[in-house]
This record gives sequence, C-alpha cells and structure tokens, in this order.
Amino acid sequence: MKKKITILTGAGMSAESGINTFRDAGGLWEGHDVMEVASPEGFAKNPELVLNFYNQRRRQLQQVKPNLAHKALIELEKLFDVTIVTQNVDDLHERAGSSNIIHLHGELLKVRSTGNENRVLDWTKDLNLGDRCEQGHQLRPHIVWFGEAVPLLEQAAIATQNADILIIIGTSMQVYPAASLIDYAQGHVPIYFVDPRPSVSENHYNHLTVIAKTAVEGVPDLVRDLIESI
Ligand code: APR
Repeated sequence: MKKKITILTGAGMSAESGINTFRDAGGLWEGHDVMEVASPEGFAKNPELVLNFYNQRRRQLQQVKPNLAHKALIELEKLFDVTIVTQNVDDLHERAGSSNIIHLHGELLKVRSTGNENRVLDWTKDLNLGDRCEQGHQLRPHIVWFGEAVPLLEQAAIATQNADILIIIGTSMQVYPAASLIDYAQGHVPIYFVDPRPSVSENHYNHLTVIAKTAVEGVPDLVRDLIESI
C-alpha cells in the first residue's frame, strides 16, 4: 500500500505565480480591510464592492500559471497517496495536475446561491448584482468568508490524521480552524514546513523539519528527497 502524504498549502504556495499573499501586504487585501470584502456583513453592506473584488481576483487567475512548486507536487502522486488541503481559492493545484484537492476556503471559479448553499455552479466570468440561480436567488462567490463555517474541515482533519507524512507550504498559520490542522497529525509522523518566514519552530513539534525557503526554492528538492527515501 502506498504511504499517505497530506499537504497543507496557503497563499505562499501561489506567491511565485504572482498572486499576493494576504498578511505580507500589511493587513490590507488589495487595499481593502479584509472584513469589508470577505465577510457576510461586508457582503450585506456593500455587495457590489465584494462582487467586484472577487471579479478582479477571478480575472487575475487568467494571467497566472502554476509554478514549479505546484508542478513538483504532481511527482509525489506516482509513489504516494496524496491529498492536498489548500486554503487557496485559486485553481493552480488543479491546473498543475494534482488530482485530490480539498479547497478548505472555497473556490474562486465557483459561485453558489444565497438561497441554497448546496446549489454550486462553475463560474469563470464576472459575477454581478442581479445574477441569480434558477430559483431567483442572488449568486455569491463560493468562498468561505470570515465568521462562516468551514464545511470541508472534517474531511481535511481526517486526511491529516491519516497522513504518514505531512507537508505544510506557505501559510502564516494565523487563520483558524485551518491552522489547527497540524495538531491532527499523529505524533510520530514527519512534518515538513516550507516557508521563507516560518511561523512555527522545530521546538514546538516532534519530527518537524523547517525549510526556510520559498515554495519554488524548497518544494522540488523536498519532493526529490521523499521520492528517493522510498
Ligand atoms: N513561498 C512560500 N511561502 C511564502 C512565499 C513563497 N514564495 N511568500 C510568502 N510566503 C509565506 C509567508 O511567509 C506567510 O507565512 O506565505 C505565508 C502567507 O501567509 P498568509 O498571507 O497569512 O496566507 P494564509 O496563511 O494562506 O492565509 C490563510 O487567511 O485571509 C485568509 O482565507 C484567507 O486562506 C486565507 C487564510
């Protein structure tokens, strides 16, 4: 049986593709207070601002490509049973070719009905006020906003709990519950943390190796080492 690798990724994974991380930009998100554009209250107050914010991000996706770190992760699938748990709402893991991806915080290229959260549609164009589902409800970005439940959390926790190896790439570990996933890894499991400004230290966890490099610098070498270790 193949060993299981679970990979938790954050905004740093896509930084070298040209998508800004959140907290590296000084707490502002493309010039906006996060709560203005990424909370149910913000959407209720100014839906047009929120839709435009996500429209811009959706358009940006057309200008960017998976980087060498996204691509390196594909190599692991030949030898390991890989699950990617990403906090990113971009589709760069998919475009690189990864097959088993849990989007903890939703997906930019999907929308859902404000009247029925299970009604999820693919959406690549702009989303405007007045765009409705067939039952007449306004559509909203399929994004987990601050203050909202994280529907795929349990699935992500199980994947982390079952992992034989855990890899964490490019996350500040500041947003819960995503940041708490590391605690689901079993005590004996090796953990690799790739981030140029790592927020956890090797003293905090057993079997933790911190690789203080960018994703593109650190991930391909780590993948090679893991493949050679088999
Ligand atoms: N390679 C790897 N990591 C990088 C790179 C890079 N090239 N550049 C920056 N980083 C690291 C930073 O050092 C930081 O630790 O990426 C991390 C980015 O942290 P955040 O911006 O806080 O992103 P993330 O942890 O994914 O945020 C979590 O917060 O705003 C919400 O829902 C949003 O999913 C997001 C969540």
